[in-house]
Amino acid sequence: MEEIQPGIFRKNSSIYTEADSGESVYGEKFITENNQKYRKWDPNRSKAGAAVMKDVNLGIKRDSEILYLGAASGTTVSHFSDTVTEGFIYAVEYSETVIRDLLEVAEDRENIAPILGNARKPQNYSEIVEKCDIVFQDISQSDQAEIFTRNCEKYMKEDGTGLLAVKAKSISTSEEPEKIFDDVREKIEEYFEILAETTLEPYEKDHLLLKLKKKE
Ligand SMILES: C[S@@+](CC[C@H](N)C(=O)[O-])C[C@H]1O[C@@H](n2cnc3c(N)ncnc32)[C@H](O)[C@@H]1O
Repeated sequence: MEEIQPGIFRKNSSIYTEADSGESVYGEKFITENNQKYRKWDPNRSKAGAAVMKDVNLGIKRDSEILYLGAASGTTVSHFSDTVTEGFIYAVEYSETVIRDLLEVAEDRENIAPILGNARKPQNYSEIVEKCDIVFQDISQSDQAEIFTRNCEKYMKEDGTGLLAVKAKSISTSEEPEKIFDDVREKIEEYFEILAETTLEPYEKDHLLLKLKKKE
């Protein structure tokens, strides 16, 4: 087992995070090596996992504080939770149905605050969320770049890292993904410098992952 990023491990062609218990979140498998249990991270179920498989260093450290927008039922949040053993995750999700699963995931872990909220209105969770090292967003909305920028303005530390998963089809079903990605880059580059980027094939079709920092 090789640690390829803080708290993220690779063995053969699979990635893993450390597991405290044998409790599965989304049907993932476990392996044990040198008395440490690891949870397999499925890149087909997680854009962050897909980005790791495509060699993007997420920039997440053991003590990172993360604002996670579009937490859904907690698949990726659970792996981030394994990773930030000394950090914390504010996990925002606006579907009352989906957040029920996230609440269960958070119950077993001490470093996740599930927040029922609309990422379009970041002011609504300002009493809970602190300034973060990482802002991660995976939201299928046509204004995903604007939502991300608004949250980073309010919650990303000056030297923080932004991770934006862009789903082309949520922005337009008629335009070519490459054209959509160019438009998003143009909007994003008003405020951010692009540190790294990758498409997420073969794990996700027509998705781009941007790693960003605030412009000086
Ligand atoms: C693609 S799923 C996220 C999957 C999740 N990131 C993972 O890897 O486990 C997108 C989620 O964003 C949520 N969402 C969409 N618009 C939102 C908004 N404006 N505010 C908060 N959550 C939103 C949806 O309800 C959905 O659960």
